[in-house]
Amino acid sequence: MKIIESITEMQKLSQEMRLKGQSIGFVPTMGFLHEGHLTLINNARKENDVVVVSIFVNPLQFGPNEDFGSYPRDIERDQKLAQNAGVDVLFNPSTDGMYRGTTMSASIQVKERVDVLCGKKREGHFDGVATVVSKLFNIVLPHRAYFGMKDAQQVAVIHGLIEDFNIPVQLVPIETIREEDGLAKSSRNVYLSSQERNEAPVLYKSLVRGKQAIEEGERDPEKIKSMIIENITSETTAKIDYVDIYSYPELKPLTVISGKVIIALAIKFTKARLIDNISFDV
Ligand code: PAJ
Repeated sequence: MKIIESITEMQKLSQEMRLKGQSIGFVPTMGFLHEGHLTLINNARKENDVVVVSIFVNPLQFGPNEDFGSYPRDIERDQKLAQNAGVDVLFNPSTDGMYRGTTMSASIQVKERVDVLCGKKREGHFDGVATVVSKLFNIVLPHRAYFGMKDAQQVAVIHGLIEDFNIPVQLVPIETIREEDGLAKSSRNVYLSSQERNEAPVLYKSLVRGKQAIEEGERDPEKIKSMIIENITSETTAKIDYVDIYSYPELKPLTVISGKVIIALAIKFTKARLIDNISFDV
């Protein structure tokens, strides 16, 4: 496995691989790799000649009161995991390298799909994601890029970005990977106390119950939302940030549940903010 920190070196290598006719599968991450990331890597491994994984904790997507400074990092462990997963190139640029140590003279502003769910409270977050993903696409020049449905709003935003800017990259969404008790795997799960960890599976269970109620014929989004909120508040100490139902990937509100929909939620425990969602056709 090659480890590359230089942006020009990464871009040059990708150009060479493309000239040789090799297909490039790309998995962008912020590191502290877990099975969720590794599943994206395995999928990329199956479908491409070369797999590139980036590890870059992107300051642009963290708000002033968010966890940029304390975001978990362990590059040595990540290198081993990536190597064992059959990654060909680990791209690990520096912040100064990515942003030339200064503010950017241009960046991307996402206009749709961001005034809901996580975008509502995390102002500028998806601008930061779209900007860094565009930069990474231009550096890594992938044929396919793998993103987890754990971050369904991120997938919706990247979907729009690729369409709007005619980016020649195929977006491959991958289902959320969960612990055995249903908790979505996340780098931020390390922030949970043991009591919170015991309570956390209620999130996914309540989403599944919501889906079941819809399958049994309920079509009123408000009723489903109340059911889920009641479920979480009665069984956990978490504070609810949001529970919402939208069309997917457009993320438009629904008065009657129909078509491809997403039920998404975010909650806060003492140190961790957790998100989860379930999407399906009605
Ligand atoms: P990060 O949180 O490290 O996640 C990297 C990728 O792994 C994302 O596409 C995310 O959805 C996926 N992922 C995380 N947990 C998962 C799980 N339990 N199951 C399936 N996939 C999972 O998302 C980011 O980084 C950043 O915003 C990034 C796209 C790298 C831009 O900075």
